[in-house]
Amino acid sequence: MPMLTIQPSGKTVQAAEGMSILEALLAAGEPIAHKCEAKAECGSCHIFVVEGRKTLSKTQRAENERLDAIVGVSSNSRLACQAKIGTENVTVELL
Ligand code: FES
Repeated sequence: MPMLTIQPSGKTVQAAEGMSILEALLAAGEPIAHKCEAKAECGSCHIFVVEGRKTLSKTQRAENERLDAIVGVSSNSRLACQAKIGTENVTVELL
């Protein structure tokens, strides 16, 4: 089972392969905005992936377009609602 580590809280929780980072964060009780309910439209679930980027699902067009419109993105930015967890551990940083 992949583990998800959340910064800055330092909490580590079990996640399931195929689960979105957003789903895993909400299951862990982490407060994260998700205004469009996971449709890649609002950008409020923007996070930074600190480790495990390669195990996540690939960025699709809708996510790329939304990220392009957000101020403060970096090369390790993802939308938590679009990034699905793979088989390896992941560490994310909440804004
Ligand atoms: S919840 Fe709106 S983009 Fe992720």
